[in-house]
Amino acid sequence: MNIRRAFKGDLAALAAMEAGYPEYPAWGEKGLEAELGKPFSVTLVAEEGGAPAGFVNFWVLRPQIQLNSIVVAGRALRGGVATALIGKLEEYAKKSACREVDLEVNERNAPALALYAKLGFEVVGRRPKFYNNTDAAVLMRKTLPGGER
Ligand SMILES: CC(C)(COP(=O)(O)OP(=O)(O)OC[C@H]1O[C@@H](n2cnc3c(N)ncnc32)[C@H](O)[C@@H]1OP(=O)(O)O)[C@@H](O)C(=O)NCCC(=O)NCCS
Repeated sequence: MNIRRAFKGDLAALAAMEAGYPEYPAWGEKGLEAELGKPFSVTLVAEEGGAPAGFVNFWVLRPQIQLNSIVVAGRALRGGVATALIGKLEEYAKKSACREVDLEVNERNAPALALYAKLGFEVVGRRPKFYNNTDAAVLMRKTLPGGER
């Protein structure tokens, strides 16, 4: 698996990946393109066999990283792509002097909740009716080595 920065030529493939999960919020090609133009925003693509298999977007808001979106293509699920992308995000965090990763996830998104728990994220809060005025958001955080308060 190769992980690299996203570029404009990836965006149609990344938007198609998002469209595979209509139950979760998506940025679409335009929203993803806007991210490429933000200096604090990083979009990483995982490639398998030369084709995008997943991506992660996060904002570097020193001393925090905000994980906004992570999506893996249906054909690549359960193959460690999300784990590898978050591993790379953590490398970025260390290089950027960020010691905390924050995210929010729909309380009904069992795969994502299991992923984050496995990778050491802890629940730090809950926002009722956050999504479509119905589902709650679960707020999760991972403190990286050196970031203990
Ligand atoms: C959540 C998501 C990113 C996981 O991607 P993935 O590449 O399949 O995850 P990994 O293979 O790295 O899985 C790592 C661990 O996460 C957990 N996990 C992942 N998918 C799971 C599932 N469907 N059910 C239960 N646990 C799951 C498991 O603990 C897994 O470890 P294991 O395979 O050794 O049991 C993927 O399901 C996805 O793209 N979902 C749609 C988009 C989305 O919901 N994104 C998150 C929004 S916050």
